[in-house]
Parts: sequence; C-alpha cells; structure tokens
Amino acid sequence: MIKAQNLSKTFRDKKRGLVRAVDRVSFTCHPGQIFGLLGANGAGKTTTLRMLGTLLEPTRGSAEVAGFDVAKQPEQVRRSIGFLSNGTALYGRLTAREMLEYFGRLNGIEGKALRTRVDELIERLEIGEFQKGRCDKLSTGQKQRVSIARSIIHQPPVMIFDEPTTGLDVMTSQTIMSFIEQCRDEGLTVVFSTHIMSEVERLCDEVAIVHRGKIVTEGSVAEIRTQTGEPVLENAFLKVVNRIEAEAAAE
Ligand SMILES: Nc1ncnc2c1ncn2[C@@H]1O[C@H](COP(=O)(O)OP(=O)(O)OP(=O)(O)O)[C@@H](O)[C@H]1O
Ligand SMILES: [Mg+2]
Repeated sequence: MIKAQNLSKTFRDKKRGLVRAVDRVSFTCHPGQIFGLLGANGAGKTTTLRMLGTLLEPTRGSAEVAGFDVAKQPEQVRRSIGFLSNGTALYGRLTAREMLEYFGRLNGIEGKALRTRVDELIERLEIGEFQKGRCDKLSTGQKQRVSIARSIIHQPPVMIFDEPTTGLDVMTSQTIMSFIEQCRDEGLTVVFSTHIMSEVERLCDEVAIVHRGKIVTEGSVAEIRTQTGEPVLENAFLKVVNRIEAEAAAE
C-alpha cells in the first residue's frame, strides 16, 4: 500500500526563490489498484514520486510505502518498490538479458530462480527479439521495456513509475500498459504519473489531477467526469486546471 499524508516539497531556487513543487499532497493506493497522477509539465508529479521512492526528502508531511515510512525506513522502502524514472540507466555494453541478470544478482537472485525470473520478464515485456542486443544499440522503446524489467526484477509489492510510456509508439505503449494491468491483477500496488488521458482512462482505478503542486481533483475517471460535468476526460482536466489558473491570476 502507499499512503501519502500532506506530502510537501519546497525547493529554494536561487533565481525563482521558493518553489512549492508539491503542496500537501495526500492519497492512498491499495494493493491491486492503479493510482494515477495526472498533470501538466511542472505540476509536481516527478517530485511527488521521487519522495515516495526515497530519492528526495519531503520538506513536510509523510508517506508510507509497503508499511514503511519513507523518512525513517528508506532502505526497507527501496527494497519494496520498483522505481522507474527517466533517469533509470542501462549499461550500454551489456545485452538486454545480461542487464536483467546483473540486476537480479545484485538483488540476491541466483541460478535457476534468476533464469526463470528473467525469462518471465522477457516474455511479458516482449524483450525476446532483442534480448541479445547491446543496451546502447536499443531503440527508446526497447530500452524502456528493459528499464521496466530491471526496476521490478526483485518482485517488489509496489511499483512507482514516472511517465512510463512518454515518447513511445502505440504498440510499445500497449505492451507496457498491459504489463501494468497484469501487475495490478496480481495484487501489486501501482502508482504512476502521466499527462496522457487515454492511459488514465484505461489504467487508473483512481486518479488525482495535480496542478501547481496540489491535488485539485481526485476520484475514479467516472467520478471526475461527473464532478466536472464533462464527459470527455481531457475537457474535465482542462476545466479543473483553468479554474486553478484563473484563481492564481486573481490573487
Ligand atoms: N531540484 C529542483 N530545484 C528547483 N526547482 C525544482 C527542482 N525540481 C523540480 N523543481 C520545480 O518543481 C516543480 C515541479 O516539478 P516536477 O518535475 O515535479 O514536475 P512534473 O509534474 O514532473 O513535470 P513534467 O511533466 O514536465 O515532468 C517545477 O516548477 C520545477 O521547476
Ligand atoms: Mg516529471
């Protein structure tokens, strides 16, 4: 499970002064659920996920991931999550398969268990065709599939993915979305960020629209449509965000 309570991050930027990147964000995501953070560029998605992943310390508030406190038990949190960000690096000189085997061993998986796990991820993420290709020669979408496999090689109960399909073609996006759905069906807790409406509509049990660091609306896609009176999610999103912008301009 993931539980964020008033999670906040303020950056001190030399030029911009205080930047409230994340402002009192609270939500809960249960096992077997996919929770989406939907927001425009700069909304605070990456910052929120980095705090959940223990890569950034919250300025205020707290979060619990898989029963562990991100501030007090960061090691246990890290062991319990698969974390995917744009910065998830691959070693260029290793092949896709070697990369997965390497990270499996780093996580204490050996021998037959390692082979089985690597084979399973290669099949589920459709890596087979290029598993013997060097990572530095793979396409963006191929690299992303290997990065996802790498991030969850240790079978964590929680997945935290920052824009997992951005920049990928329709087929690769479908593969990744199906994979995320399978993980949910197996009872994993999944939190991911996106700005792609169709992804939210397909995947999310619960979605929070974030803007200027705050959750401005939260609920199922159907609830957000009802709340805003907009049957098209994109229009609902724009309506909520434009209202916040108008309020900010009036201040
Ligand atoms: N290290 C930092 N120092 C100063 N400001 C930062 C830092 N990291 C993020 N910010 C600011 O915090 C805000 C939120 O950024 P964040 O990266 O979380 O947004 P995002 O929703 O992930 O956007 P995108 O869709 O573009 O990835 C932005 O205004 C950004 O400029
Ligand atoms: Mg981001």
